[in-house]
Amino acid sequence: MPIAKSEYLSEVWKDGLFADRVVFCTGGNGSICSAQVRALVHLGANACIVGRNPEKTKTVAQDIATARPGSKVLGIGDIDVRDPERLQSAIDRCVQELGGIDFLIAGAAGNFLAPMSQLSINAFKTVLEIDTVGSFNVTKLAMPHLLSSVKKHTSGPPSGRIIYVSATMHYTGAPLQTHVTVAKAGVDALAVNVAIEYGPYGITSNVISPGPIKDTEGTRRLSAKPRSDNKRIPLGRSGTVKEIADATVYLFSDAANYVNGVVMPVDGGAWRVGGGNPGRDFEYPDFILSGEKVNIKAAERKPKTGNSKL
Ligand code: HXC
Repeated sequence: MPIAKSEYLSEVWKDGLFADRVVFCTGGNGSICSAQVRALVHLGANACIVGRNPEKTKTVAQDIATARPGSKVLGIGDIDVRDPERLQSAIDRCVQELGGIDFLIAGAAGNFLAPMSQLSINAFKTVLEIDTVGSFNVTKLAMPHLLSSVKKHTSGPPSGRIIYVSATMHYTGAPLQTHVTVAKAGVDALAVNVAIEYGPYGITSNVISPGPIKDTEGTRRLSAKPRSDNKRIPLGRSGTVKEIADATVYLFSDAANYVNGVVMPVDGGAWRVGGGNPGRDFEYPDFILSGEKVNIKAAERKPKTGNSKL
């Protein structure tokens, strides 16, 4: 369904800003990443989004394509960032059908609330494998194309740029989020090392760290009820996907040519006062000491099927 531009992009950006550029995005069927990609497509880019759920990925891609008549948006499902061969096949298809990869958004992530006492060894490893190893995998596999992009495009819109979608909770630590704090700290470290090692080749690598963002799967998984108490957010409200999309446009635009190795929270200042941490509905430390299980519908465990795909 076409979405009004005002929901995913500010008026400040110029149409055609990313003309003739291609963005590859993992986790692209999610609420935050799809808004990021939609904004880039609106401003001239073509895109390839990948995700685990084939139907959802295809539908979201078709939907994103409505942001600009004539755009090309591929939606490739059945792609798990933990599986380098599947990821490589999607990258190959993107390059073949869209002509290359100029921008990368590493957004695939997994999350649920669980105290360490209820976090199995496999559950911890799973989130690290999706968030941290998955971000490394896509960086490694897309890098040859990002490097070609820098060589190929000596004028016009920028090329060879990466954004990692991270979080803020590891700045302070957060109850019920051991797996995610460790995983996202790794993502931030990865981004910085990419900036250091590939900056000399003309690549920029930066992190966007969303705070509490309204109407996203992350928020649904991490709260038992819709957030009504915004007192612990300096700006007094949750963020919107549009605000993450605007930060994305900035980092991929000419305006950010000299920005590299930066971790940019987009959270209304929430992390500074501990207002961005998930799990707020589970009083600390009472909930941990109670030994109770987290009860959030959206984050319920799926029955085991022997198949790790959604
Ligand atoms: C405890 C849980 C659990 C839960 C799963 N596990 N859910 N443990 N509490 N609620 C355990 C399982 O029991 C299993 O361990 C292990 O995790 C792997 O689970 P699987 O379902 O087999 O794995 P998989 O299908 O790969 O699923 C990955 C997942 C799942 C992350 C666990 O939640 C998922 O697919 N999520 C979809 C993506 C997602 O979460 N998006 C939101 C991202 S938001 P055992 O020991 O039983 O084998 C985000 C925002 C962060 O990242 C910042 C917010 C501010």
